[in-house]
Amino acid sequence: MHTPALLAFVGTASAAAHIGSSSRFRNGWMPYEPAEISTYLNSTILTTPSTAEFTYPGTGLDGPKVHPVNGTNFDWWYFDAVSDDLAEGDLSSVIIVFYTLSQTAFFGQRLNDSVLAVSIAGTLRDGTPNYINLQPGEATITTLGDSSAGQWGSGPNNASWSSSPDLRTWVVTFNNEIVNGSLTMTSIAPPHLPCGLPTPFATELIIPHVGWVNAIPDALTSVDFTINGSSLQFSGAGYHDKNWGDQPLFDVEEYWYWGHGRLGPYSIVWFDAGSLVDGEEHFSAYVARNGRMISGSCVAGESVVARPWGNETVVPLHPPTNGSAPAEGFEIIFAEVEGKEMRVNVTNVVSLTPLGAPIARWTGTMEGGFEGERVWTGVALYEEILG
Ligand SMILES: *[C@@H]1O[C@H](CO)[C@@H](O)[C@H](O)[C@H]1NC(C)=O
Ligand SMILES: *[C@@H]1O[C@H](CO)[C@@H](O)[C@H](O)[C@H]1NC(C)=O
Ligand SMILES: *[C@@H]1O[C@H](CO)[C@@H](O)[C@H](O)[C@H]1NC(C)=O
Ligand SMILES: *[C@@H]1O[C@H](CO)[C@@H](O)[C@H](O)[C@H]1NC(C)=O
Ligand SMILES: *[C@@H]1O[C@H](CO)[C@@H](O)[C@H](O)[C@H]1NC(C)=O
Ligand SMILES: *[C@@H]1O[C@H](CO)[C@@H](O)[C@H](O)[C@H]1NC(C)=O
Ligand SMILES: *[C@@H]1O[C@H](CO)[C@@H](O)[C@H](O)[C@H]1NC(C)=O
Ligand SMILES: *[C@@H]1O[C@H](CO)[C@@H](O)[C@H](O)[C@H]1NC(C)=O
Ligand SMILES: *[C@@H]1O[C@H](CO)[C@@H](O)[C@H](O)[C@H]1NC(C)=O
Repeated sequence: MHTPALLAFVGTASAAAHIGSSSRFRNGWMPYEPAEISTYLNSTILTTPSTAEFTYPGTGLDGPKVHPVNGTNFDWWYFDAVSDDLAEGDLSSVIIVFYTLSQTAFFGQRLNDSVLAVSIAGTLRDGTPNYINLQPGEATITTLGDSSAGQWGSGPNNASWSSSPDLRTWVVTFNNEIVNGSLTMTSIAPPHLPCGLPTPFATELIIPHVGWVNAIPDALTSVDFTINGSSLQFSGAGYHDKNWGDQPLFDVEEYWYWGHGRLGPYSIVWFDAGSLVDGEEHFSAYVARNGRMISGSCVAGESVVARPWGNETVVPLHPPTNGSAPAEGFEIIFAEVEGKEMRVNVTNVVSLTPLGAPIARWTGTMEGGFEGERVWTGVALYEEILG
């Protein structure tokens, strides 16, 4: 059943690769042969000037975007998975983040005098939360074309990810006294940028000063970790993206609603964020089916709007502020999916809050589809961030 989806995805990925190579070739350049590029960092907080990439140059999709990371910018690689059986009571989930940033640039890492951390958080099958944050002294990120690999730490304490050159298969591992094991993903939905498929010169900005690249919108994922003596084993819907910025996140972001999930045959991703810089709400919609993107837009009115629902108090739920009641779920409306509106109702099942306010995350169930058509169900992992 998955074979046609995977073949379709291979077709999409290689078509995109050919756009890059043939245009270079036509211009009389050498045929495109990506080289491995490595970036090494130690934990020192630099005070040097830096530049950040916010336009996709046609390669290096999942590579480092901030050169170099200093005390006021940030760059991270994020991986997660939620159990396919959430509705049946399997509360398993996992969130792994490889950080290059200081605690000035992003709240919550309690990094002291380091720019390197890797964390694993989530819930065991019975809902027991866990959160482990490691702070290695060095890290290396290697890219080959659009794919990437990362190694945080060395010797007996390390964590890593790697991907196949076609971005189809990914492995994330931990080797540590407290946590060991791996997460493996097979992507079923093509990568995208805020405004659609990755084409050269497309913007990578989700809001001013913040970049976003989603290399894996949805993946068949299997998870097998031992976390502080407890086993976390499940299969589910997985996801990988990266965010970065050239200023501390909370200086530029007012709030954001982000999430992903699998709804019947659809892989969906929403990002709806308020900017403190231009005062505007920014949007990114993504819907794929059978390995093909069928909706991808950042244009207001043609994209996606996410809104929390729950107990409204005197303080409104939207825009979310310190005084808003906690959301109990979200309504996600995609304006334009093959000419139709897709409405999805997300209901919180497990609250995942290792970092605490102002970041709230959940796993939840979803219900929705197109008016007058069958109602699909699924699982999601999503968050709300206040500025
Ligand atoms: C860490 O890296 C910086 C810049 O790359 C370098 O100046 C510094 O000496 C390094 N520190 C250590 C402890 O290796
Ligand atoms: C980081 O780089 C930016 C851009 O060059 C610069 O404005 C900022 O002051 C730097 N931050 C630190 C802590 O040096
Ligand atoms: C960070 O510093 C605080 C005090 O400033 C200390 O309590 C804490 O243990 C340090 N954390 C790490 C991981 O070094
Ligand atoms: C990571 O740790 C494992 C287990 O101790 C070890 O086998 C592996 O060589 C380590 N990797 C690196 C790059 O140090
Ligand atoms: C983690 O390491 C322990 C001890 O070596 C081993 O028994 C266990 O199977 C490992 N867990 C995973 C998920 O690899
Ligand atoms: C591991 O579990 C022990 C026993 O429950 C607990 O005391 C300890 O804090 C845990 N360690 C981590 C890093 O979560
Ligand atoms: C919302 O209100 C209902 C009824 O008072 C209550 O049972 C529920 O716990 C509230 N939900 C939240 C998230 O506070
Ligand atoms: C949010 O509210 C809590 C409790 O009312 C308060 O302690 C905290 O300082 C507030 N945070 C901000 C950023 O206003
Ligand atoms: C979303 O689901 C919740 C819980 O089932 C329900 O109370 C609410 O009315 C639904 N919202 C919409 C817009 O369908």
